[in-house]
Amino acid sequence: MNKTNIVVLVSGGGTNLQALIDAEKRGDLGNGKITCVISSKEGAFALTRAENNGIKTRTLVRKNYPDIASYSKAMCTVLKEEQADLIVYAGFMTILDENVCDAFPNKMINVHPALIPSFCGKGFYGLHVHEEALKKGVKVSGATVHFVTAECDAGPIILQKAVEVNEGDSPETLQKRIMEQAEWKILPKAVKLFCDNKIIVENGKTRILE
Ligand code: GAR
Repeated sequence: MNKTNIVVLVSGGGTNLQALIDAEKRGDLGNGKITCVISSKEGAFALTRAENNGIKTRTLVRKNYPDIASYSKAMCTVLKEEQADLIVYAGFMTILDENVCDAFPNKMINVHPALIPSFCGKGFYGLHVHEEALKKGVKVSGATVHFVTAECDAGPIILQKAVEVNEGDSPETLQKRIMEQAEWKILPKAVKLFCDNKIIVENGKTRILE
């Protein structure tokens, strides 16, 4: 079977990237192979994780480009050079424009640290998501893996997992629990479903073939 070339986009610590690397090593990504990791930030620890595992890295620094359009164009060129079959946003904190989505329709997935449509959209990223969830006093939060479309965090949902909010949680403790109990599990699972051709997109929703 042909390999599915997976390109992972990162901006930070890369624990979700690590979950993907570990899953690939266990044989849990089907025919998926992480072929390149691209960072929007120089020196991101995610790059070290990739290098430690012999994965090619590239850095495309957002602030070296005047606007989202020129950054997106450069990213599109790089993704084509890397012959990406699947692009995974794993803690990638930069928004790309619709031209990238059009070039890779239903081939880009993102992990978001909340149960979409709660606590998502522009400005909801990283710890801010958990700060807002705690401010609202929700009793459960969780994570969502979805396809990336031009509208931020609004693409078809692939997998979700709920996680309890505990009395006395800080944004940091809630983030850690959601990563451990949800993100690191459903992201590799969604990638495997994609690689196994088990995700059908219909009318803005997904249907998972069992
Ligand atoms: C993760 O919690 C991820 O869901 C979130 O940033 C963190 C990155 O951690 N992504 C977003 O908020 C995107 N909107 P990591 O670098 O350790 O994977």
